[in-house]
Amino acid sequence: MTDFAGRHVIVTGASSGIGLATARLLVARGAKVSMIARRAEVLAERVDEMGARNAAAFAADVGDRAKLEDAIAAAVHKFGPVYGLFANAGLAGNFAPATDYPSDLFEKILKVNLTSVFWAMQAVLPAMIEAKSGSILITGSMASKRGMAMNPAYVASKHGVLGLSRAIAVEMAPHNVRCNCIIPGFIETPAFDLIPEEQKGKIEGRVPQRRMGSADELAEVAVFMLSPAASHVTAQDWAVDGGTLETLEV
Ligand SMILES: NC(=O)c1ccc[n+]([C@@H]2O[C@H](COP(=O)([O-])OP(=O)(O)OC[C@H]3O[C@@H](n4cnc5c(N)ncnc54)[C@H](OP(=O)(O)O)[C@@H]3O)[C@@H](O)[C@H]2O)c1
Repeated sequence: MTDFAGRHVIVTGASSGIGLATARLLVARGAKVSMIARRAEVLAERVDEMGARNAAAFAADVGDRAKLEDAIAAAVHKFGPVYGLFANAGLAGNFAPATDYPSDLFEKILKVNLTSVFWAMQAVLPAMIEAKSGSILITGSMASKRGMAMNPAYVASKHGVLGLSRAIAVEMAPHNVRCNCIIPGFIETPAFDLIPEEQKGKIEGRVPQRRMGSADELAEVAVFMLSPAASHVTAQDWAVDGGTLETLEV
């Protein structure tokens, strides 16, 4: 049952890439979708393009707790109690040796990628507990499960969200609130726009399917995990990666 039948779902990082594709699919499946990201104009354009009455934009920087809470409150005011939260907004961070990695950047990445997810959860969980119904999905990364050189903040933040999803899953299970993590492999989104074609070729060569995934392929799994069809699925992580994470080619 991946039909959302008017359920309200909040999607962060909804102005492009994975968040936008998932918001579009949720709208198509009948959800009322509140889309959060920083760029107000881009977000408004994406909502207009959908031409759907069941989508709305709430611009906010998730790293600003007050702004994030205001956006969630406005979303609840418009569409009612929240059934689902797709905490997807994230920054890739900068690549630098650990010894030189700026501490202000480390703190910023942790705040946007990890702490803000907890803030969003704290904003939506009380009503989910009261309703005895809820589904939270967090976007992790292969860096939620593997180390990667030169980007310690990103790796720490993405390991953090996987741990957070499991902690919330076990605490919320008695309340019928589920929490899971989705693990994108190499998904072709604007986050890869700056990468040269040659580098993209190398990336594709590391994927057993020999191609990057699309945001739409990721969205199909995200929507399933958020949906009532996944009612007995919690504390899980699911990779959408063409086989990259769990294989070894020799
Ligand atoms: N694509 C991949 O292969 C891949 C792999 C592993 C993990 N991921 C994760 O997937 C998620 C989505 O990334 P993507 O690939 O779809 O990249 P993207 O197209 O660049 O999307 C990132 C989204 O996050 C929003 N965002 C960034 N910082 C924000 C902030 N402080 N407050 C609110 N919104 C913010 C951006 O919108 P604004 O600029 O308008 O704020 C945008 O909507 C991220 O968590 C990323 O770490 C992606």
